[in-house]
Amino acid sequence: MLRVVVLASGRGSNLEALLRAIDAGRCHAAVVAVAGDKPEAHALELARQRGIATHCVPFRRAARGAWDTELAEAVAEAEPELVVLAGFMRLLGPAFLDRFTGRVLNVHPSLLPAFPGLSAPAQTLAAGVRLAGCTVHLVDGGVDSGAILAQAAVPVLPGDDEATLHARIQREEHALLPGVVDAIARGALSLTTTGPRWVAAPVAAGVLRSPDLGTR
Ligand code: GRF
Repeated sequence: MLRVVVLASGRGSNLEALLRAIDAGRCHAAVVAVAGDKPEAHALELARQRGIATHCVPFRRAARGAWDTELAEAVAEAEPELVVLAGFMRLLGPAFLDRFTGRVLNVHPSLLPAFPGLSAPAQTLAAGVRLAGCTVHLVDGGVDSGAILAQAAVPVLPGDDEATLHARIQREEHALLPGVVDAIARGALSLTTTGPRWVAAPVAAGVLRSPDLGTR
């Protein structure tokens, strides 16, 4: 089982989807700890209900580097093989990323490199594009700029607002993220020091999800 630490700031629906996929045997990983920056985050409550270790390190703008270090220490304690940002709303600095080089993933609600940063579904609607989606990518020092691992697309429908579009995107996130974590656990996706590499050929590529990471 791949040891995963999840970082989350909010609702935690991606954390929940990951835990469900693990329970159902669709994702060969174990969430060994959940860490966050907001004590009131529902994601932390979800983890506590499941008996998963939680750590909260409230953000300290005035002591940025120290915050990164403290968060890294808390995460490292759980000895993760992979760190997954699932709705973690802070940029991580070098004191954190250098500790887990090439092993930190994020899920983002747009087809990157389009619409990085905050409010991606709103950015998508404002741009008038007809396809939206989500991306699982490696985290580097930039804003949603690391190597893309997998994406899924959904249509933008007439009458969509930010909430309806985000909900449609999130349904795809909830399949894509556990799929990528499972691919890493099984060695189908290798996170090498020279960058990510798909080892196994993606199974029967789907029309909208690339590569096809299985059924939801
Ligand atoms: C997701 O849409 C994710 O792509 C973005 O933040 C949102 C988190 O949602 N990074 P949740 O907390 O997992 O429900």
